[in-house]
Amino acid sequence: MSSSILDIKIRKFVPADRPAIRRISFKTSFLGSPEFFINHEEAVADALTLYFTDYEPESSFVAIQGEKVIGYLTGTKNAARMNAMVNSRIFPQLWRHAFGQGLIFQKKILTLLWYMGGSALKWEFSLPDVTDRYPALLHINIDESFRGRGVGRALMDYFLDYLKSERIPGVHCATLSDDAYRFFTSAGFYLLLKKPRTYLRYHFKKEMFYYLLGKTLR
Ligand SMILES: CC(C)(COP(=O)(O)OP(=O)(O)OC[C@H]1O[C@@H](n2cnc3c(N)ncnc32)[C@H](O)[C@@H]1OP(=O)(O)O)[C@@H](O)C(=O)NCCC(=O)NCCS
Repeated sequence: MSSSILDIKIRKFVPADRPAIRRISFKTSFLGSPEFFINHEEAVADALTLYFTDYEPESSFVAIQGEKVIGYLTGTKNAARMNAMVNSRIFPQLWRHAFGQGLIFQKKILTLLWYMGGSALKWEFSLPDVTDRYPALLHINIDESFRGRGVGRALMDYFLDYLKSERIPGVHCATLSDDAYRFFTSAGFYLLLKKPRTYLRYHFKKEMFYYLLGKTLR
């Protein structure tokens, strides 16, 4: 994609994009309110992007204006393989850091874990395995000042073409955002599951939902 007004281009991720992706991932986490829940940018960025940037970089893409990264789509062709890697390598490393640096004992984190525990007891985190039919997975985030101008759609089209060229039969994604839910349905995704996430109420003061969406590619 190239726009004469915004001069925005989509291209494959390269390692030099890593800091910008990590920054945007932190700023857009927790529906744009990360500081309320956690103060540690590195830990959040690791949890959200490490697999994609370091283990499967070929499946991620960025939107740039000039040299500046203004949005990204991180993806995997095989979410089952990704989950195995995250559970065996990345999460243990993150927990070690969290304990080692004392993060886990900060008041904000303890509060978050307390409320998440309540959600876990209600089985809100238990999800069906959809990786058979929808093996690929994506996350997409656009810098706030560039939203609503077609950048997300351009990144999505680029990624879907990539998956089709790799003969991947389906892709899924998840979001807590009603706006992002509408963005995904406008890109042809359909709702697979909607579940409450009651732990978020202590900040957002309203019922929040987790949307799981899928799209077949042939
Ligand atoms: C959701 C997001 C990726 C969409 O990217 P974007 O560049 O703003 O969206 P686009 O301008 O490309 O819009 C593409 C389509 O989605 C629709 N859309 C985008 N944002 C929307 C919103 N807030 N409400 C309703 N529809 C929306 C547009 O109307 C457009 O539809 P059309 O092509 O039929 O006109 C971006 O707004 C974002 O990063 N939001 C914050 C983080 C987030 O929620 N990430 C995704 C979930 S993890």
